[in-house]
Amino acid sequence: MEKTLLLLKPDAIDKGVSGQIIDRFEKRGFKIAALKMVQLTRNQAELHYCEHTDKPFFEELVDFITSSPLIAMVIAGENAIKASRIMMGSTNPIDAAAGTIRGDFALNIRKNIIHGSDSLISAEREIKNFFTEKELYL
Ligand code: CMP
Repeated sequence: MEKTLLLLKPDAIDKGVSGQIIDRFEKRGFKIAALKMVQLTRNQAELHYCEHTDKPFFEELVDFITSSPLIAMVIAGENAIKASRIMMGSTNPIDAAAGTIRGDFALNIRKNIIHGSDSLISAEREIKNFFTEKELYL
């Protein structure tokens, strides 16, 4: 069964919409394999976003994602990576269609509510950055 890492970012917690977002994934048919609330250290955030280290927005991204707690979760199901990215909508919420998570809950590219792994390789690496094998209930 395919797995992916989702982060409900600090803005999802601030807005009080994390339950609604989790509900969408459960209703779609995904199984929650792991879930925890955590405030990231800069080290953990830099590791998670290592593909973006050379981007001009990197420091701002790490500042935001470490600013307060987030919810990290692993969901499992058929085509979990592709399906969850379609459910999330475009990275920039301005371009995200209504009905997608970012299209319904966000306006700002930094505060874009949710992160989801973009490939099998990223999912494997990102899941390991948040959960041990023992914490995954498949
Ligand atoms: P995410 O899916 O978590 O992956 C990388 C994140 O970088 C992305 O969501 C956005 O929140 C953030 N991001 C991408 N482009 C920009 C930008 N131009 N300015 C600020 N943040 C950005």
